[in-house]
Amino acid sequence: MEKRQELYAGKAKSVFETDDPDRLILEFRDDTSAFDGKKVEQLERKGRVNNRFNAFIMNALKEAGIPVHFERLRSNTECEVKRLTMMPVECVVRNIAAGGLCRRLGVEEGIALTPPTFELFLKNDEKGDPMINESLAETFGWARREHLVRARELTFQINDILQKLFLDGNLLLVDYKLEFGLFHGEVTLGDEFSPDGCRLWDATTREKMDKDRFRQGLGGVIEAYEEVGRRIGIDFDQTID
Ligand code: C5P
Repeated sequence: MEKRQELYAGKAKSVFETDDPDRLILEFRDDTSAFDGKKVEQLERKGRVNNRFNAFIMNALKEAGIPVHFERLRSNTECEVKRLTMMPVECVVRNIAAGGLCRRLGVEEGIALTPPTFELFLKNDEKGDPMINESLAETFGWARREHLVRARELTFQINDILQKLFLDGNLLLVDYKLEFGLFHGEVTLGDEFSPDGCRLWDATTREKMDKDRFRQGLGGVIEAYEEVGRRIGIDFDQTID
């Protein structure tokens, strides 16, 4: 597959067209951002680590029957994906209270959330990704109701699969954000899954092993991502066919 012009540059990834109208290439960069792009740094190895991390998780989800856009690794920092028509919404599931939920509702960090919560946010940097709901999404045409129902169902199926996968590495999946799109009418998981878009705590010590290390200036960000990867069986040095 031939790489063509850049379609879009996000905060941490760039998206390229290809000679196949149904396929795109994602490039994971070393750029790391937080607080709606107000804090930005380059972290060595991040593009490579997140590319491998995402490939591992997407393959695990695919094997479990989840429709995902990921197709294959292309290089250390690139992968090939199906071209989706993205819904401009972020689906967030929380198993343990942290981050935005604690700030918004004043609940204590670390309490178990039973059942896990599901929230929708509009993808809009200018407006600071405001919280929305199914009714607003439908009325303003951001997503169709039946597509949101399916995205929510898939998000909870993914929760079951990934909670188990991370717990096998003695890690708690605290919360995470997913983005979905349509591929020939089918609601399909897009974007990425990496420690940039989820919270992972050591199950014994509750040490933070995700992007909160960057947000909170704790240091050892990429080392923590690599440690998480090793615990769940990722070989970051594996060659690409
Ligand atoms: O900030 P908040 O607590 O609402 O984030 C919930 C989860 O969603 C976290 O794991 C965070 O990393 C992720 N998230 C994200 N991108 C955003 C907003 C949240 O990856 N724009």
